[in-house]
Amino acid sequence: MALLATHNLTAHYGDFQALFGVDIEINEAETIAIIGANGAGKTTLMRSISGVLRNAPQMVRLETAEIGSAPADEIMAQGVSMVPEGRKLFPSLTVEENLLIGTYGRKIDGHWTLETIYDLFPILKERRNSPGTALSGGQQQMVAIGRALMSNPRVLLCDEISLGLAPVVIKDIYKSIPKIKAAGASLIVVEQDIGQAMAVADRVYCMMEGRITLSGRPDELSRDDIHNAYFGASH
Ligand SMILES: Nc1ncnc2c1ncn2[C@@H]1O[C@H](COP(=O)(O)OP(=O)(O)OP(=O)(O)O)[C@@H](O)[C@H]1O
Ligand SMILES: [Mg+2]
Repeated sequence: MALLATHNLTAHYGDFQALFGVDIEINEAETIAIIGANGAGKTTLMRSISGVLRNAPQMVRLETAEIGSAPADEIMAQGVSMVPEGRKLFPSLTVEENLLIGTYGRKIDGHWTLETIYDLFPILKERRNSPGTALSGGQQQMVAIGRALMSNPRVLLCDEISLGLAPVVIKDIYKSIPKIKAAGASLIVVEQDIGQAMAVADRVYCMMEGRITLSGRPDELSRDDIHNAYFGASH
């Protein structure tokens, strides 16, 4: 059985339908990537899984539990944590305070503590007392990832963690993903950067206009398949 799955998932913003029957699944200790162009519905899918957007109960399952209509705090308590698009740190709080926020609502013993987050991203230890706003974009992204890990999630959702960062910084951040996986979490990595996604994922789903247009292991998918699934066959 999949650890987490969506079943014929739909999502709306008012009258606008953003997702049309999306089926994805992620297994224990697996990393999947969701790729797709601007507006494809990637963030909407993450919001639907994490409870920011509510759906019919059976549209999202965590093992056998139907969580599609559960609120975000309950889903986090069940072990699904999100690194949101745009990081969303508390600017007036220090690095360490931002990290500690991640433990509210799910207090369980696990691999991730302040100490292991600082091992993962040593620069955060040096900057532990700096306010969130004093950090570079890459450091802020590290805090956002660390904050989500502090709840020791079973599934970590990462929404465009490379957005707006320099290539060398992106490389640095992506180095943490195998370590997060090795510590026992499953990951859903949303990316516009196809290369980065393919390098890190066990399986990839491509989205276009609110639908899954392609899925498979990176080594099974040709460049043409991905191009068509990403932009549509007419491009
Ligand atoms: N709060 C909102 N209200 C209305 N429409 C929205 C809202 N958020 C997203 N949409 C629309 O839903 C569709 C999917 O958007 P979504 O943000 O999920 O795409 P995305 O794949 O994450 O794009 P990006 O790569 O730009 O982050 C788009 O057409 C977008 O304009
Ligand atoms: Mg998005």
